[in-house]
Amino acid sequence: MQRKDCFVLKGNIIYAREDRTLAEQSEGYVVCEDGICAGVFDGIPEQYKNFPVTDYGDALIVPGMTDLHVHAPQYTFRGLGMDLELLDWLAAHTFPEEARYGELSYAKQAYPYFVEELRTSCTTRACVFATLHGEATVELMDELEASGLVSYVGKVNMDRNGGVNLCEESAEASAAATRDWLSAVKGRYAHTTPILTPRFTPCCSDELMRLLAGVQRETGLRVQSHLSENPSEIAWVKELVPEASCYGDAYALFDMLGSPDTPAVMAHCVYSDDAELALLKAHGTYIAHCPESNLNVSSGIAPVGKFLAKGLHVGLGSDVAGGSTLSMLRAMTLAVQVSKMYWRLVDNTVRPLTFADAFYLATLGGGRYFGKVGSFLPGYEFDALAVDDSSVKSMRRLSVTERAERMAYQECACRLVGKYVRGRKLV
Ligand code: GUN
Ligand code: FE
Repeated sequence: MQRKDCFVLKGNIIYAREDRTLAEQSEGYVVCEDGICAGVFDGIPEQYKNFPVTDYGDALIVPGMTDLHVHAPQYTFRGLGMDLELLDWLAAHTFPEEARYGELSYAKQAYPYFVEELRTSCTTRACVFATLHGEATVELMDELEASGLVSYVGKVNMDRNGGVNLCEESAEASAAATRDWLSAVKGRYAHTTPILTPRFTPCCSDELMRLLAGVQRETGLRVQSHLSENPSEIAWVKELVPEASCYGDAYALFDMLGSPDTPAVMAHCVYSDDAELALLKAHGTYIAHCPESNLNVSSGIAPVGKFLAKGLHVGLGSDVAGGSTLSMLRAMTLAVQVSKMYWRLVDNTVRPLTFADAFYLATLGGGRYFGKVGSFLPGYEFDALAVDDSSVKSMRRLSVTERAERMAYQECACRLVGKYVRGRKLV
């Protein structure tokens, strides 16, 4: 009898190991057994001989990628307003657009565009911000669940500084709306998990943070937010929470920075100093590095080489619409590029990222947030992409690793021809 989610893919395979080195197998076989990777082989081992084989020919086969930080409602204005700095961009573009999701009919029109592009992208897992609207957030979660992608999704909390029509009435109202949302989605999904999402300190009062910490203790849910993204934001947080020793402490003081067992995702950390990084390490925080967003809204360059050297958890985020594209390939190449500018212009003791580092960040670095995800080592959940790079012509024969690097830089010439999440075929 043929078992479900048992199959073999054939192609030119590359994946990252836990030490951030890359492994490649040309004309290899990667085996999926009950949705779990059994490993990569140069021939099909005897025990898998009866599994069906999909031959992707000369295509590349890589692990699925994780977008650790993306705003679904902002997809509608991606690539617009990119000449502003963070706080002005939030006020001029982001908050007015997010306010529109108060109408469920608008969410029902807008979210499918986002979900469909994500489904057909290299992303297999994502940590997603919705808006403060409970109903619209359930709509987004229903659509993500139906897509087959695996995600954490948060109804945003904000009880101050959201501008016109994007502010919850009070801390109590925000916490109550969160509880309503959580009861609406309880037990509803197999691949979609709620995550508490205080937008960032400027939008969340101390009282709201305290109430959300209470929800966190009751539910055990994870938390995602923004941290140390932009100088003007950081100065504002100092005024708002003067008793905090650093911005990260403004979350930790209210028990909103997670723990190694229930890690939080914090986007950006561009300006986190050694003390803040030590706090993140102690809490097991995952840093979502979002290089394109950091360029677009004039935030700066996050010292990712330093994060890795300190043993922090790091993955990549598109941060659409601070970032203009959902492409994790683009996030990979930009991560390398901005790291070289940090080394050149800011601090030449922080080593720039290699391609292997960037590949690791996009796959295993962010994938770890979801468990054993993001590699083809035995025991990992089976998330895989098949990419046809045959339009990228070459004078000489390239190794699989070289082809993967060029795939990232020449993504427009490459085509996603297969996509699997937890052993289920999406494309
Ligand atoms: N800080 C608070 N909200 C946002 C947002 O929507 N995008 C970015 N990039 N930073 C934020
Ligand atoms: Fe963001």
